[in-house]
Amino acid sequence: LNGVPGFPLPTVHSQKAYDPQDSFTAKWTRADAMQIKAHSDTSVAAGQNSLPQQLVMPDVPADFPATNPDVWVWDTWTLIDKKANQFSYNGWEVIFCLTADKNAGYGFDDRHTHARIGYFYRRAGVPASRRPANGGWIYGGHLIPEGAQEQVFAGTDYTITAEWSGSMRLLDPTSNKVSLFYTDMAFNRNAAGQDITPSQAVITQSLGQIHADFNHVWFTGFTTHTPLLRPDGVLYQNGAQNPYYNFRDPFTFEDPQHPGVNYMVFEGNTAGQRGTADCTAEDLGYRTNDPHAETVQQVLSTGAYYQKANIGLAVAEDSSLSKWKFLPPLISANCVNDQTERPQMYIKDGKYYIFTISHRTTYAAGVDGPDGVYGFVGNGIRSDFQPMNYGSGLMLGNPTDLNEAAGTDYDANPNQNPRAFQSYSHYVMPDGLVESFIDTVEGRRGGALSPTVKVRLRGDASVVDTRYGNNGLGGYGDISANRAAINVVGF
Ligand code: FRU
Repeated sequence: LNGVPGFPLPTVHSQKAYDPQDSFTAKWTRADAMQIKAHSDTSVAAGQNSLPQQLVMPDVPADFPATNPDVWVWDTWTLIDKKANQFSYNGWEVIFCLTADKNAGYGFDDRHTHARIGYFYRRAGVPASRRPANGGWIYGGHLIPEGAQEQVFAGTDYTITAEWSGSMRLLDPTSNKVSLFYTDMAFNRNAAGQDITPSQAVITQSLGQIHADFNHVWFTGFTTHTPLLRPDGVLYQNGAQNPYYNFRDPFTFEDPQHPGVNYMVFEGNTAGQRGTADCTAEDLGYRTNDPHAETVQQVLSTGAYYQKANIGLAVAEDSSLSKWKFLPPLISANCVNDQTERPQMYIKDGKYYIFTISHRTTYAAGVDGPDGVYGFVGNGIRSDFQPMNYGSGLMLGNPTDLNEAAGTDYDANPNQNPRAFQSYSHYVMPDGLVESFIDTVEGRRGGALSPTVKVRLRGDASVVDTRYGNNGLGGYGDISANRAAINVVGF
C-alpha cells in the first residue's frame, strides 16, 4: 500500500486466519481510518462529495417513492440459510423490516423506541422494470404477536420495549420452520425521556413458521422468546459500565472451514468502564518511526477513548441454535469509532469479508469518515482483517464533504452535502447487491427502501458498479431472492 503525502501509512494486516476460539482480535486502527481523510479531496466546493467516487453510493433522487403509506421502514433483512443465500417461499419474496407507525403522533426520529419487526412480501421472479416504482412490497403486519417479546424482561423495570435488528434463518429449505434472531430492547425512562436505569439489550431467538397461498404470505409462532446473550462486561461492554453501550444486531452463519458449527456476529463495544483512557499503541496502529504518527498521549488527550466499537462473535452450543457462548471480538475500533452496526460475514472465493455500517458522528476525535458500509477481509472468520480500500475500511459511503461539519439527518448543516444522510443500514446481498433505507435526501425524510446498488469486490478493493441499474441505481427496494424454497406441505 502506498501512502499519501502528509498522512501516516495504514497498519500492516496479514489477513492470517486464527482459530475461531482464539483470543486474537483484529484492530481497525486510527492509522487505517486516517486513510479515509487521506483520500478525501480538500479542494471541492463546499457541500460537494469529497470522497473517491468509486466508493460512493450514487445520488438518490429527492422524489423517491414511499415504501408504504402507513409505516416507516428502516433496517431490513431477508430470509437466509446458513450461507446467506436468500430464499423466496412458494413463489413469494419476503423481507423483514424495522417499522413504526406513521400515524401514531411521534416523528421519524422517535422511531427507535417504537420499533416493531414487520414483514412485506411480493411475487418472486419479476424484474424491477416491471414492478411498481417503490418495489411493490405488500405490508403483512407485525411478525411478533403483540407483547410476546416482553417475556424476556419479566421481573425487571421498564417503561417501553422495542424490537431491534437481527436476521431470519430458514432452518431447512424443504420445511416452513424459521428462526428469528433479533435484539429485544427494554427502556426504563422518565417522562422527559431520560434513562432511569440503562436500557436492556438482549439478543433473542424466536421460532415461527412461514405460510403462503396464491394470494398472500403470513406467519405463525413467535410466541416463545428465548434470551440468548446479554453483554457480560468481560468481553462485551454492558449497561452498568456504560449506559450508552451498543449490543445488538445478531447475524448467524456456518463457516465452511468448520462444517456443522454455527456462529453469530453482532454489534458490541469493548468491555470496561466508560471513559477509561486506555487505548494502546496497537489501537493507533502506526508503523515505527512514521513521521505522521500520533502518540498515545496525544490521542488520549482528545477524549477519543469514549469511542470503542467492536464486532462480536458467539458460537452455538446446540443444534437448535438456542444456546450460545461468547467468543472474543473479531474486530475492535478503540479510539476510532463507537459503532460497528449490523455486521455480517460474507464468504466469497475463499475470502471472508466482514461488512458493517457506521456513522460519521460516531467517529472518535481526529478521525473521520462518512455514513455507510465499511469492509474488512481475511482468510477465516477470525483473521488479522485487512480494512478494504487503501487500508481505510471504507466501502460504500454516502456522498459527503468531509471538509464540512457533519450536521445531523434531522438538523442539516447547510454547507454539507444534502445527501450525506441519504441512506443507512446497508445489507450486502448475494452478487454484491446492497439494500438500505433512505434517511434524508435534500431535507426530505425517508423511512423508505433505497434503490439497490451493486458493489464489485476484488480482494481488498471494491468499486460501485455504475453499469448496474440506472448509472448505478437499481430499483427501489429491489431485494430479490437467489434461491427458491418450495414447500408442498405449506400450500
Ligand atoms: C441501525 C440501528 C441498529 C439497530 C436499529 C435500531 O440502523 O442502529 O443497530 O438495531 O438501528 O433502530
